Amino acid sequence: MSGDTKRLLNRFGDYEDPTNMSVDDWKKRWDKEQTEFHLPKVHPMLEKHLGALVQGRSKLRFFIPLCGKSVDMRWLLEQGHGVVGCEGVDKGCQEFLQENKMKYTASPMKSCEGTVYRSQCSPLTLYRCDVFDLRREDVGQFDCIWDRGSFVAIPVSKRKRYADIIVSLMKPDCRYLLDCFLLNNEQFAGPPFSCTENDINTFYGSYCAVKKLDEKDAMTDLQRGWGISYFTDQVFLIRMKKRPHVGSSLIW
Ligand SMILES: C[S@@+](CC[C@H](N)C(=O)[O-])C[C@H]1O[C@@H](n2cnc3c(N)ncnc32)[C@H](O)[C@@H]1O
Repeated sequence: MSGDTKRLLNRFGDYEDPTNMSVDDWKKRWDKEQTEFHLPKVHPMLEKHLGALVQGRSKLRFFIPLCGKSVDMRWLLEQGHGVVGCEGVDKGCQEFLQENKMKYTASPMKSCEGTVYRSQCSPLTLYRCDVFDLRREDVGQFDCIWDRGSFVAIPVSKRKRYADIIVSLMKPDCRYLLDCFLLNNEQFAGPPFSCTENDINTFYGSYCAVKKLDEKDAMTDLQRGWGISYFTDQVFLIRMKKRPHVGSSLIW
């Protein structure tokens, strides 16, 4: 164990600081195939609320932060949209490309330590880097964002930085679907980290309008195994309402 006394044994028997998960911590989980967050099918909330995101428009640019190897990306490509993902761990990017039989190129990122994976057969680009290093200059801005297991995976202390980056990537008419959970992190340290509507308004409310679209009891045997007494899936639609001030790093 490192000298950092905040590091605790997680349920897989590794030391982590649950209040400050690093990309290295996630890499260890990927290396040991501790990727229970991965769903083998399209997320039901994305399927259900896709209409609220795309609003009849076609060929949109989607951003999937902290994408893992989510099959939602393949589904969005099949709908004719372009997809850009950001994932901190190479294994996640490579497994997505291999499992979906996509030929790809890999090249170093120019602005930070990272790798750009580009599919040769579809409009898909995956940036393997820490999301906190990702810049609008690298990836441009987006029509839609699908955030599942992303905001809730970011350490609570970094939520403002994360939200600022996401806002900087939103086109003025961007529609951002945020799927998050309510749980008691005193019963289970996380991730995921619980997120209330107030939390979302705290971090996005200055520039965005936030509307709750859905709520569902999402408790399964997995969460019961974490020792928690409730686990609620909540979905929010976030839209820009105000331009960041001139000179702000959030300005588009
Ligand atoms: C809970 S998983 C969710 C993955 C995906 N969104 C899904 O629905 O399957 C969180 C993912 O974010 C990645 N990650 C965590 N912190 C990151 C960071 N700072 N920058 C980029 N990726 C990160 C992890 O490697 C992991 O694949």
